[in-house]
Order: sequence, then structure tokens, then C-alpha cells
Amino acid sequence: MSDTPRMQDAGAAQPVLSLAGTVMHTPERGIIEIYEDALVEVGADGRILAVVDAADAERAPRAAAAAAAGRLVTLRAGQVLLPGLVDLHVHAPQWPQLGKALNLPLEQWLAQATFPLEARYADLGFAARAYESLVESLLANGTTTALYFGSLHLEATKLLAELCHSRGQRALIGKVVMDDPALCPDFYRDAAPEVAIAETEAFIDHVEALSGRGGRVRPVVTPRFIPACTDAALKGLGELAARRGVHIQSHVSESDWEHDFVLARTGRTDTRALEAFGLLGRHTVLAHGNFICDDDMEALAGCGAGIAHCPLSNAYFSNAVFPLAHALEKGVNVGLGTDISGGPDASLFSVARHTVAASRLLNDGVDARLPAATRGRMNAAVDIAEAFWLATAGGGIALDLPVGVIAPGYAFDAIVVDTTHPDSDLTIWPDLDEPQDIFQRILYSATRVNVRRVWVDGRLVADKDAGLDWD
Ligand code: GUN
Ligand code: FE
Repeated sequence: MSDTPRMQDAGAAQPVLSLAGTVMHTPERGIIEIYEDALVEVGADGRILAVVDAADAERAPRAAAAAAAGRLVTLRAGQVLLPGLVDLHVHAPQWPQLGKALNLPLEQWLAQATFPLEARYADLGFAARAYESLVESLLANGTTTALYFGSLHLEATKLLAELCHSRGQRALIGKVVMDDPALCPDFYRDAAPEVAIAETEAFIDHVEALSGRGGRVRPVVTPRFIPACTDAALKGLGELAARRGVHIQSHVSESDWEHDFVLARTGRTDTRALEAFGLLGRHTVLAHGNFICDDDMEALAGCGAGIAHCPLSNAYFSNAVFPLAHALEKGVNVGLGTDISGGPDASLFSVARHTVAASRLLNDGVDARLPAATRGRMNAAVDIAEAFWLATAGGGIALDLPVGVIAPGYAFDAIVVDTTHPDSDLTIWPDLDEPQDIFQRILYSATRVNVRRVWVDGRLVADKDAGLDWD
């Protein structure tokens, strides 16, 4: 089931919300579009009906009609409308250890810090406390869509789905499967592959009853990674995902240890092994992929599977930099992920900046003792606008959802960034900054404090200035 942007019959659909102000987005890789003082019209189904340019003769009468109907929102000077951010990789239960335990290699970090923390989600009170705080924080950071790993607990993961549903965040969520006693401890392991598969299906049933099939909250088949799962679980989950037509997420070729472990166990690369288990398809998103080879990229591009690039987490756990530009050239769908808590930062603005920095380090190389000509990997650098495209439209494409672009047919998932907030280093110098400069400066300097309003599907889900009389 594809969920591509759909155009409406413009004559039939009436806007229920009209937003007047400056719009900035990156509809394609390398393309920045800026509409100064545009009018964005949103229909009752939450989709954008029209983006009316300031030069359009229709702009003024349509804004006047919206004002008369009491549905006009006008941004203040210095505020900009951007697409909402799409986080392709969040471990929801790891939120309470954000910024902790980052000194260990991946396999020790999992065993010593992460599995003991995730095991606590057997306690629904603990789960509610952590998940409420997480969803609030991600919305406050402007993350309108999140692809979440839950814990292995069915009930706690249902609770996360219910929370995203009631708070209005677009969310794709999976109950984690990890059933292999060779890697997973007794205190945190699915009882058997059949149990893990049955509970995953129960979770799919629950989310589809909650949000409707193809709704704003969707279930995801989630084998943690091959080293944590038995062959029986992986095969069963591949069959389940195909039968129920749901998304799939996992980790792939993250570190030397993980990549080599899968090669030794299966005789294939991680990507090709996931494919053999029926876990690779248009609705698969795999985190990291630092060690994927050209053949893996061809497998991913061939079926439209995506990579969640997590540059900050990779700096701690991955032993290498993801070859982002090369993967994009090979046609792989890529978006960005915080990898909370492997990445100690909840902001996708921050992840976009780390994406640029990591790509520059890969391009130029890192060991100054080597000659400049052979120190790096040519054509590996991306710029901040490309990184923002990954954080918005790229994430939407990877998920096959109509989000990340402010254009007719897309969901109105959007944020207001205020460049005038006093508690911020983001400042605009009107005598120095052209609109393109302002866009760049937002991308490099915006933090959570600059994100003032957040909409998902046309519904206002965060309004930090409520009561301050905006319009
Ligand atoms: N591989 C398997 N589980 C995890 C996890 O929780 N975080 C990261 N970064 N990699 C993993
Ligand atoms: Fe991860």
C-alpha cells in the first residue's frame, strides 16, 4: 500500500486552516524553496490543499476569507514555517539514559546498560513516566513523525502507541523481538520465537484497532537485529510482515562486531541475510548501515528499503562513517535518526548538523599524518540543505508517507521556528541576511526553544506561546 501525496479536487475541498507567513523547505535533494509571505491552505483531512504565493492575485482575497471565517493563522515577523522533522530511529525505552553510558562498545553497552534499563518496562508505571516525557520532548523539538523501537513488552509498547495516538504524533512503533539465548539475557528475552511472533501480531491488531489501518500510528515488525534473534523468529517475522502488510525495522551492519557476527553466523552480509528472511522491502527501514557494500546498496535500492542514518550514534558505536553520499548516488532511500540513546541528542536539527560534519570528515579524512590526496573518500560531503532534506522529505520517502514537504497533497505536518526568541543564539541580521542565509542559519542554530508551534495532519499538537495572542 503506497501512501503517496494525493491531490484533491480543489473545487470541492474547503480549507479548515490557512496559514500566512514565510515557508521554507527542501522538496528535493539540493533544492531549497522559499516562499515569502505565502498562504498555506489545509483541508479537513489534514492534507495541504494549496500553497499560494505572495505574487498570486488570489493570495489577498483567500487570506481575507480565511480571516473572516476565523481560520487564519498569521506568523509574526521573524517566524518561519518548515516541514516537521522525521526521526527514523528512536529507541523509546532508552530515553531515561540519554547522555549516559556512552563510553562502552556496542555489545557491552547493550548488555551492561541498555538491556537492564529496557527490562524495567515490565513496570507500566515506569513506562508511562518515560514515554510521556519522551513524546513531549520529541514534539517540542519539532519531530512530527517518529519510527520507534519499543521494548520487548507488549503492554508497555501498546501504551507508547496509545500515547502517540492521544498526543497526535505520527508514529510507527514496534514491539522489539529478541529471542536468542546466545545473546539475550534471561531477564530480557522473548520466551520463544512463537511467543514473539504472536505478541507482534497482537500488537499489530491493537494499533490497527486504535488508529485504523494506515492511520497516524502504525505497527512495525521489529526484530532488534540478527544477533539477538533466532532464525525461526526472523523467518516468522518476515512472513508476518508480508501477511499483514506492515512496516519492518531493524539494525544493519552497524559496527565491526555486528557486521562480522552476522557474516559468521549466516554466511551473508547483514542486508542479504535480512532479505533471505523476507525482511527487506519497500516498507523496511534499517538503522546505521555503516558497513554495507555496493551489493547491499543494490539490494536496498532495488526494493526501496531505507536506511536511518544516525551520525551521532555512529560516532560512539560504529567504528566508521556511513557512506551517505555514495548510498544516495546508488539510489538508496535515506533519512535521519537520533538513535536515542545511542545518540545523546533528541533534536533532528542537531542530527542534520552532525550529518554534515560526519560527511566532511569522511570526505577529507581524519588522520593528518596521511597525505591530503589519499586521506579521505572523494565526493562524500553533503551540505546542510541536503541534510535537512534527509531530515524531512527523505524520511518521508523512506517511510513511504506523504510528509516532509510543504506542497499540495502532503500532510500538513509542520513547525514554526521563531528566529527572534530571546533565549537563543539564532539571530537574524536583516542588513546582512538574505532569505537563503536565514534558512541556513536556522538549520545550523535552531534548538528546541525556537520551535514554537507544531502541527501533525493539520492538528495543532504543541503551542508554546498559547495565550500570547498570536493572530
Ligand atoms: N543494535 C541492537 N540494539 C541496538 C540498540 O539499542 N542501539 C544501537 N545503536 N544498536 C543496536
Ligand atoms: Fe538503534
